[in-house]
Amino acid sequence: MKGYSARAEKIMSRIEELASVSETEQGLTRTFGSGAWREAALIIQSWMQDAGLHAWIDNIGNVRGLLSSPSPGARTLVIASHMDTVINAGKFDGPLGVMMGLDLLEQLAHNHTPLPFNIQLVAFSDEEGCRFHTTYLGSKVLAGSFEPVLLEKKDADGIPLRNVIHANGSSTGLLHTDAIDAAAWLGYFEMHIEQGPVLYDRDIPVGIVKAIAGQKKAAITFEGIAGHAGTVPMDMRNDALCCAAEFILAVESIALQYKSQIVATVGKLEIANAASNVIPGAITCTLDLRSADGGILSEVYDTLQRTTAAICGRRNINFDWTVVQETSPVTCDLSLSALLSGAVKEAGYEPLELVSGAGHDAVAIAAVAPVCMLFVRCYKGISHNPLENVELKDIAAALQVADNFLQQMIYQHNQS
Ligand code: GLV
Ligand code: MN
Ligand code: MN
Repeated sequence: MKGYSARAEKIMSRIEELASVSETEQGLTRTFGSGAWREAALIIQSWMQDAGLHAWIDNIGNVRGLLSSPSPGARTLVIASHMDTVINAGKFDGPLGVMMGLDLLEQLAHNHTPLPFNIQLVAFSDEEGCRFHTTYLGSKVLAGSFEPVLLEKKDADGIPLRNVIHANGSSTGLLHTDAIDAAAWLGYFEMHIEQGPVLYDRDIPVGIVKAIAGQKKAAITFEGIAGHAGTVPMDMRNDALCCAAEFILAVESIALQYKSQIVATVGKLEIANAASNVIPGAITCTLDLRSADGGILSEVYDTLQRTTAAICGRRNINFDWTVVQETSPVTCDLSLSALLSGAVKEAGYEPLELVSGAGHDAVAIAAVAPVCMLFVRCYKGISHNPLENVELKDIAAALQVADNFLQQMIYQHNQS
């Protein structure tokens, strides 16, 4: 494990360096298209070049590093995670996978390992979707599924995605050229912190992702009548915030009826023209619904829409329900996951399978390639929070597993 420990330390110091690249003075925030995001991309690109990769930044802002196989017509294995963050993020969500991938490729380049397939390392530009409320912009481009209509999406300041891409010196007309052809994909491997407490509770450093939950996200606007807080009697009000409050509690209680099969969150609430002496007239809130069971996901979503209509009808409030994003549950590839499971056992750990409630770029890639994912334990499962933490020994353990996995893949392809 000695070599892995030293390598884990280098990975950790790079993660720390990236964590200092933030659009805020305090904490870490690095959203798509920000100055900090561009700076981080250039740093990652230079590390890829130093590692001996052919590195470039594509039109959606993904940083890409290639180690080519000498075999003509060789397909491509992509190792990836993301470099964007949520607001006030932890350091490891995204960068851990990119920096571990960089270490693996650095070793292969350093050892001049002859490759039976190309390996491309990608730092995806937008997994969190914080700026444009649409996730996987980078991985959609790589998978060739980027819908041009997304270019018209606007951020909170009204700036369209199209303009942000142009401001980054890139061409929206060339986005399609950045895709890897469906036939050229060999597979996809992502390493990521678990972002949940299972590995921490079970005292296991790594886990194998067997599926990624599907998601339905919506923006809901409640429209009542703004009024004077001192003059309108309680039984004559159309208070949009009270309606939203009832909706939020309904979301919680309906999701609770499905026990551990679904999670539902209202994470954002905006009160128009908020003031202590004004009855709230309009509220916008978000709904984030996730389940590994597509049937349950749709059932709860429909129930919530019906319940919202009933609450609003009773309270005389108009509502608008807009779908923001939908992804189906994804099952990880059985044969790549079996290989990963063997790699975990070879490293001396129990091969525990987990379902990911968090979204990952693997979701977008699964449409064109077999995907697999390795989870790394994080402190108490805390994520999307500055307290997010991963221990060096777990990075070293995950690195050993990933190394076993990659060596086995190379061996198998050399045999065939
Ligand atoms: C991304 O981290 C998500 O699952 O929302
Ligand atoms: Mn995240
Ligand atoms: Mn992530």
